[in-house]
Amino acid sequence: MPRDRAIMAEAQRQFQTAKERRRDELERRTAEVYRKAPMVEKIDRELRGTAARIVLAAFADEGSPETALRELERNNLTLQRERAERLVGAGFPYDYLDDGPVCRRCRDTGWLADGRPCGCLMAYYTQEQNRRLSKLLDLGNQSFKTFSLEWFTGEKWAEFGRSPLENMRMIQEICQKYAQSFSRRSGNLLFTGAPGLGKTFLSACIAREVSERGFSVVYDTAGHVFQQFESGKFGRENPFEEDPDREVDRYLNCDLLIMDDVGTEMLTSFVQSAFYRIVNDRLINGRSTVLSTNLPMEEIGRRYGEAVLSRIRGEYQILRFFGEDIRILKRDR
Ligand SMILES: Nc1ncnc2c1ncn2[C@@H]1O[C@H](COP(=O)(O)OP(=O)(O)OP(=O)(O)O)[C@@H](O)[C@H]1O
Ligand SMILES: [Mg+2]
Ligand SMILES: [Zn+2]
Repeated sequence: MPRDRAIMAEAQRQFQTAKERRRDELERRTAEVYRKAPMVEKIDRELRGTAARIVLAAFADEGSPETALRELERNNLTLQRERAERLVGAGFPYDYLDDGPVCRRCRDTGWLADGRPCGCLMAYYTQEQNRRLSKLLDLGNQSFKTFSLEWFTGEKWAEFGRSPLENMRMIQEICQKYAQSFSRRSGNLLFTGAPGLGKTFLSACIAREVSERGFSVVYDTAGHVFQQFESGKFGRENPFEEDPDREVDRYLNCDLLIMDDVGTEMLTSFVQSAFYRIVNDRLINGRSTVLSTNLPMEEIGRRYGEAVLSRIRGEYQILRFFGEDIRILKRDR
């Protein structure tokens, strides 16, 4: 799964900070216990001594190492029992000073034996990614749970052959399924329709769900995407040169790219070639894309060329939004 290097670095930093915080907390607790129950400190010192002696006994060439070992282990157990009693006796929970790993799967390293990041580290990745997505999307309020059909009438619109309500119910279902079963090669969606019909809202729902399932998700408006392409190296130096720190590579390599407001940017031949590159590269690499636009299909062809339109028609599921502008309905309510 291609991950964003900057987000991964931030996730690791936070993971490390949490680990250090736990270590500091254990130090604080140890000092507290030693102050209130000095016997525990004495026992700890003895336990460290026995540990050293066990190692020595195992390497001893004289006498019987087995007998010596058994004796030391018995001694050790007695000390540990006494330590627990002292701890509880002084009013602390028995596990107050336990410092075993919080995550058993990776033993708090963040990485699994096969080189993949552990779920506990990925939780920080998701959190950081959601923080970034939240700068542009209202992830707090816009989710499949808050998505409402109350704004869509059940009256049939002749030109579409169904009602906005029926249509939205279908779109909602498709989007929800898309997000919940997202994987590589989930395919692509195109939202097209007039303003104020929930295209960005549904993008936020999808972004949130897919991000929480551990995939890399980038949301941006077309205008900003193209601006990054223009200020990046694309089109000037070698466009095939990979540099994970470039914004452009995030757009090309993330598991899910959500590009909003396609068609609102100023059209130049640079924009046309960048858009072709995004659509085509992501298709070739089997990476999923969700596009939103107010443009009707024919207009997409006129604006970005037949090569782009043909790819969209062939490889994207096209969802047509229609109904009354929810922004206006909300204002007048
Ligand atoms: N299903 C819904 N339930 C409740 N509120 C909604 C729903 N869909 C959209 N809204 C609200 O309506 C307003 C417009 O929605 P949104 O921004 O998603 O429209 P849009 O289709 O992206 O419009 P544009 O084409 O202008 O970008 C927003 O305030 C959004 O929160
Ligand atoms: Mg929008
Ligand atoms: Zn772990």
